[in-house]
Amino acid sequence: MQPTSVARLGVLGSGAGSNFVAIAEACAAGRIPARVVLVLSDVEHAGILVRARERGIPARYIPPGPFRTKLDEEAERAYVRALQEAGVEYVVLAGFMRVLKSVFLRAFEGRIVNIHPSLLPSFPGLAAWRQAWEYGVKVTGCTVHFVDAGVDSGPIIGQQVVPVLDDDTPETLLERIHQAEHELYPRCLAALVRGELVLQGRRVLWRGARPEQETRTGDRPGG
Ligand code: GRF
Repeated sequence: MQPTSVARLGVLGSGAGSNFVAIAEACAAGRIPARVVLVLSDVEHAGILVRARERGIPARYIPPGPFRTKLDEEAERAYVRALQEAGVEYVVLAGFMRVLKSVFLRAFEGRIVNIHPSLLPSFPGLAAWRQAWEYGVKVTGCTVHFVDAGVDSGPIIGQQVVPVLDDDTPETLLERIHQAEHELYPRCLAALVRGELVLQGRRVLWRGARPEQETRTGDRPGG
């Protein structure tokens, strides 16, 4: 069933914001029946804040507190308050470099999604593309998943495969993973806000059309 109004997304990021841009553009083009109503960052001068403001989307830095890998409880409350005040229905993590704890998870239970630059459950954690390159796998990619209390461990919504080429460096591989992310994330978000995803245990079933798996081979002939 089509929604009668567009969904309200809140995006959290710590970095450049290329996934945010892909999502905002997909919303503007009507490919996701949603609108980004707020962007939050734990990094004061993060590119994602600049890119949001350029598009006229409210964007705020909220200090994360003293820890390196999580928000402290007071900060979590501040993030939740800001998102709730903006009427956010779905929280979209796009390069947010901190794990979320119970205050946040409870406030948006089942409505938080993340993108990770590997085919989970392989290579969770930091610099996943480099982990994959160093390990020597022949295919990697990206994963969109629901967020739970673990690190990159929630139910998988969608994945897109990216082959690892013999002459790849971690950087060239990451570039193609990013391109795949910019395709996969909007498609998964569209299905999510349309109510087309059904959670059965750890399995996420697509009631609507599942995106075709595309494979990023790079520009080389025969690559
Ligand atoms: C992406 O590679 C995403 O998978 C990871 O962080 C990166 C964010 O990049 N979680 P950007 O800020 O969206 O450009």
